[in-house]
Amino acid sequence: MKLVVTPSHPLVGQTSLPGDKSLSHRAAILAALAEGESRVENFLVGGVTRPLLNALTSLGVAWALHRDTLMISGAGLRGFQTPAAALDCGNSATTMRLLAGALAAGGISATLDGSPGLRRRPMRRIITPLRAMGVQITASPQDTAPLHLTARPAGQWYKALEYTLPVASAQVKSCLLLAALAADGPSILGEPVASRDHTERMLRSMGVSVETLASPLSPERLLKTGSPQDPIEPPKLQNYIRITPPASRRLQPLNLCLPGDISSAAFLIVAALITPGSEIALQEVLLNPTRSGLLDVLLEMGADLSIRVTEERHGEPVGNILARYSRLHGVEVDGCVAVRMIDEFPILAVAAAYATGKTVVRGAGELRYKESDRIAALCQELRALGVEALETVDGFIIHGKGYVPGGEVQSHADHRLAMALAVAGLASRQRVVVHQAQWIDESFPAFVPTLQSLGASVRQEA
Ligand code: S3P
Repeated sequence: MKLVVTPSHPLVGQTSLPGDKSLSHRAAILAALAEGESRVENFLVGGVTRPLLNALTSLGVAWALHRDTLMISGAGLRGFQTPAAALDCGNSATTMRLLAGALAAGGISATLDGSPGLRRRPMRRIITPLRAMGVQITASPQDTAPLHLTARPAGQWYKALEYTLPVASAQVKSCLLLAALAADGPSILGEPVASRDHTERMLRSMGVSVETLASPLSPERLLKTGSPQDPIEPPKLQNYIRITPPASRRLQPLNLCLPGDISSAAFLIVAALITPGSEIALQEVLLNPTRSGLLDVLLEMGADLSIRVTEERHGEPVGNILARYSRLHGVEVDGCVAVRMIDEFPILAVAAAYATGKTVVRGAGELRYKESDRIAALCQELRALGVEALETVDGFIIHGKGYVPGGEVQSHADHRLAMALAVAGLASRQRVVVHQAQWIDESFPAFVPTLQSLGASVRQEA
C-alpha cells in the first residue's frame, strides 16, 4: 500500500488518539501476571498488539476485546502455561523484551521469536542482566532472537539484581522490573538517563513497592557492562529504582482508560505546525514528562503550542494540546532530551526541514537500533524529498529552508518513518508518495482517516 499526500488546505478541528502503545503493552502483560479480572479501555488495537495478545493466548491467559476495551483474566505470577510453539512477537521489540521479563517472572520454558526485522534487534541488553539474576536464557550467536528461556526450578526465586543499564532503555528496564517480581529480595536498577517510567507507575498501582532513589545504595556493586552492541554512553541525569517483590507474590488487577498516545499525537502536531492556517486540538493525550521531550523542543523552535494537564489518570498526567501553524527555526537537541523523545526524531526532522536554519541532533545513537536504522533511513529519505539532511554517528543535521520540494520515498518497514514522511507532504511544493506505508498499522491504524478528518489531502493506493 502507498500513501499519496498532496499539499493541503489548513488542518482544522479536534480529535482524540489511539491508546498509548507503551501503556497498552504494559497493561496487557501486567494484567496477565495479575490475579483477577482487568479492564483496559482505549487499548491500542494495532499491528504491535495483535501478536502480543496471541502470545497471551498461547500462555493460557484468557482475554476478550470489545472494540478497544480489553478484558483479561490474569493468570497470576505463577499461572502461565508452557506454550506449545514459539511465541511470535511480530515486529515489536517492546513485545519481545517485556515478554522475556514476564516469562522469567512466570518461571516457564518458552521461545520468543519474530519477524526478520525483529531478529536483527539487539537482545544482549536483556540477556546479560537476566543471566546475572540466574535466568536461563539462550539466543542466536549474535545474541539476537530467537530467545529461549528455560523453566525456573520449582520453589526457587532468582537472585535480586543490582545493575546499571549501559543504555537508557525503558524496554530493558521494564524487562528487568518484571523479572524482579520473582527475585529473592529487592532489586536496584540504575539508568544513565531517566527513560519512560510507565512500568514503575503501573506496578505501583498494582500494589508493588517501586521507589525512585536519589542515589544507589551500593554504587560500587552496580554491575556495568559494555559491548559493541551496547556501548556505554556517558551517564547523565542518572536514575535509580528499587523494586521489592510483594511478599504475597500477587499483583492487583487493573482498571484503566488509557490516554492517547503522545508519540502518535506528534505527527498531527507537526502536521498543524507546518501547514499554513492550521489549528488543531488534541484531547486526552498522555503528558508524562518522560515522553514529552518533543513538545519542549518544538516550543524552543518557536511552535505555537498550548499544553494543559487536565487530570492525573492512574498515576499518569493527561491533558490537551492545541497546535497552530508556526514559523519554526532550527534548534540543537542533545542526548538528555533524546531519551524523552526517542520515537519522535523522524517527525522532528520534518519540522526541522520546514524550519529555517540548522537543526543539530546529538547523542541519539539508539536510533540506529529501532525498526529501521532511523538515522540512515531518515536522512536518505529526506534527501529523496529534496531536504538537505546529513547523517552523523549519533544523530543528524538538517539545513531547514522553510519548505520541502517533494518526491517518492520508502518506509523501510518503519511505521514512524512512514508517518513522518507522509506529514512532510502536507505542505510540500509537489506531492509526496510513501511506498510500503502499510507499516503505519503497527501503532496508528487510524492515521489516514484522522488526518482526513482534519482536512488533509491524503489517500491510500494499492
Ligand atoms: C518503548 C521504549 C522505547 C521506544 C519504543 C517503546 C517502551 O524503546 O523506542 O517504541 O514501550 O518501553 P527503548 O527502550 O529501546 O528505547
